Amino acid sequence: MIFLDNAAGSYPKPQQVVQAMGRALEDYGANPGRGGYELSLRASRAVYQAREKAAEFFGCPNPERLIFTSGATESLNIALFGYLKKGDHVIYSGMEHNALWRPLMRLVELGTITATCVKADRYGYVHISDFQAAIRPQTALICCLHASNVTGCVQPLGQLGIIAASHKIPLLTDVAQSAGLLPISVADGHIALLAFAGHKGLYGPSGIGGLYVDEKIELQPLIYGGTGSNSDQWQQPDYYPDRLESGTANFAGIIGLSTALDFVNECGIDSLFARADSLCNRFIEGAGNIKGITLYLPRWQCRRLPVVSLNIKGLDSAEAAAALDEEYGIAVRSGLHCSPLAHKSIGTESLGGALRFSFGCFNTENQVERVLLSLRSLADAQK
Ligand code: ALA
Repeated sequence: MIFLDNAAGSYPKPQQVVQAMGRALEDYGANPGRGGYELSLRASRAVYQAREKAAEFFGCPNPERLIFTSGATESLNIALFGYLKKGDHVIYSGMEHNALWRPLMRLVELGTITATCVKADRYGYVHISDFQAAIRPQTALICCLHASNVTGCVQPLGQLGIIAASHKIPLLTDVAQSAGLLPISVADGHIALLAFAGHKGLYGPSGIGGLYVDEKIELQPLIYGGTGSNSDQWQQPDYYPDRLESGTANFAGIIGLSTALDFVNECGIDSLFARADSLCNRFIEGAGNIKGITLYLPRWQCRRLPVVSLNIKGLDSAEAAAALDEEYGIAVRSGLHCSPLAHKSIGTESLGGALRFSFGCFNTENQVERVLLSLRSLADAQK
């Protein structure tokens, strides 16, 4: 099998991640933060170390403000429902994933907020001047993902951070796609809220991610319950991470993420990016020479993650993905990729989306050549 759906979730996982999760469950899988006995304390220490490691990875000044969640979707829900108040105005980009768009639209539907979508150009890039023009006195939050899961287009997050800071408006970013591929620092990037997922470019398991919350931001919890602290009070603790982490933690997931961060740090994000990027460049070059294929690429000036979407003339993307899987053993994702806004921006919404190829560090040059041959056969069969 050739796996090219790393933007949905990287596969395979590094052996050390798989082994560390198994060991954690076998050796010390007790409830972290709930017991005074050695096994629970050991689990608590491991969670603490994982939190410190994740905070350092994202340049977060205070590890306690990094909370573990089930992934970027939960993180974004906690951020939006926890921060926004009646009458607030929010600016978001026309490339956002449903993980942000849906909770945001729910808040609009409830009458809590108003929201302005800053449209992307047809290459999937959002322009800083459009964000600036959308700012109002009531603007309480600016939301922009770091990079698109459809086109890989990297957005001008650094500049946006400067603009947001100059207007004293917090910036919320979703780095689900870029974490592990591009350097990210909340401190340097003026990022107030950062949502990440463990299972994509970080090579961790699914079901684990996190949210960083700047010290100046106060969030109401989305979920209330046991934290193993202040148990005599009905109120949720007011300190982090307990305030936003109720219920037993995903211990094996946290250990998996922690080991995955070691893997990424040891490989180096620059070399992980370079490896996947060179495979992606070869793919783009080859696919661009196949008649009947339309590639949806960012402008050449824009940085791109190793993610490419395309369509084959005369073939629906779902049918193409099924044919690649059944006839050639190639795993890719078709359709709208939970990002209808992005597909609308690049003009593929009316086509039902596109066929997406996303590369990871375990892919090879030989796989890329085999995929290109398969694509050529599919395209030729439509003539
Ligand atoms: N958001 C994930 C993707 O892009 C699931 O496929």
